[in-house]
Amino acid sequence: MEQLLSQRISNARPSFIREVLKVADNPGIISFAGGLPNPTLFPVAALKQASAAILDEEGEAALQYTATEGHGGLRRWIAERYRATQNLDIDPGQILITNGSQQALDLIGKVLLDAGDGVVIEQPGYLGAIQALTLYQPQFLPVALDDDGIDCEGLRHALDNGRPKLLYTVPNFQNPSGISYSERRRREVAALLAGRKVLLIEDNPYGELRFGGAVPTSFHALLPQQTLLLGSFSKIVAPSLRLGWIVAPHWLLQKLIIAKQAADLHTNGFSQRLLHRYLRDNDIDRHIAAITEVYGRQKAAMEQAIAHYLPAGVRITAPQGGMFLWAELPPQVSALRLFEAALENGVAFVPGHPFYVDRDDSNTLRLNYTNADTATIDDGIRRLGAALKTLMS
Ligand SMILES: Cc1ncc(COP(=O)(O)O)c(C=O)c1O
Repeated sequence: MEQLLSQRISNARPSFIREVLKVADNPGIISFAGGLPNPTLFPVAALKQASAAILDEEGEAALQYTATEGHGGLRRWIAERYRATQNLDIDPGQILITNGSQQALDLIGKVLLDAGDGVVIEQPGYLGAIQALTLYQPQFLPVALDDDGIDCEGLRHALDNGRPKLLYTVPNFQNPSGISYSERRRREVAALLAGRKVLLIEDNPYGELRFGGAVPTSFHALLPQQTLLLGSFSKIVAPSLRLGWIVAPHWLLQKLIIAKQAADLHTNGFSQRLLHRYLRDNDIDRHIAAITEVYGRQKAAMEQAIAHYLPAGVRITAPQGGMFLWAELPPQVSALRLFEAALENGVAFVPGHPFYVDRDDSNTLRLNYTNADTATIDDGIRRLGAALKTLMS
């Protein structure tokens, strides 16, 4: 019966991370593998209050079908936030509320990609984007990242030779590497794309989780007609609400709305009202400051532990925000073999290869620091260091 499956799904790889997370969940294992926000920071009491207020005051309307584009107040709130935090001029009419930013990736694939179309992707890149776009059978054109962003020589080559429709980027505190594009690199990338028939996806779920440094220039400011901005409330409020959005030029937004209508009619209307009420009645800046204070401390604890317990040949990125660190082991060390040794020592991480479109193993790995307290982080990195020393000896 499996011959009944479409080519599209037959070609999709099962998620390696899901397998990793299953073993990482075993009792006694310290896990740096997941990508979960710290649940102690979820605003449970405020959401409870907002939820009761909506049912009391908006009752039936909150439970009715609603517009595909999304809740008007929430779309206006998002536009206003872009203005206040990044001085971006975005019309609420350009915003489509999605079921998490993950759905935005799926809708973009559905609306823009035919089989074989080129998609430039950062290497390493966000696994969920690779997975979502794979279902539209594109030709991935991987381009390396360095500490300042995507490599411009590689990008130029991919643009000239692969004739891609899309460039997918996570310019702030990237998943998996934690790196952010420098100002200069942003301008170089924009200059390379300007005038070409290619759209840049600026996926930015982590931008507000900043520990220090100035807010950088959005690609949307540099290339307004060619940029699709993706945002999410998953990391600043709660992921289970499944609320994200896409900002797109009008010609494309119309098509995305048709695709979304066909997929699910609209994003959960109660969730949208709940979030809008929460944002209206609470100080989101204070909430975000509380999150970044905790994550900043956890990141510093992980960096210190790495300096203490891991051999000098291990190179790590230095993120100024977000949820992940990326480590590069000496070239001969397999992250998959380290993963097995680390599990035996009671610690888990994600080996780097699933973040590449063309590798079965690598000497890289992703470490999440948001989901363990600082003492646990120290213990976990100590265990990792011991596993690595055994493997290298
Ligand atoms: C870069 C990136 N994009 C998109 C998502 C999806 O987020 P959500 O669908 O919860 O908004 C994630 C989740 O971890 C992510 O890391």
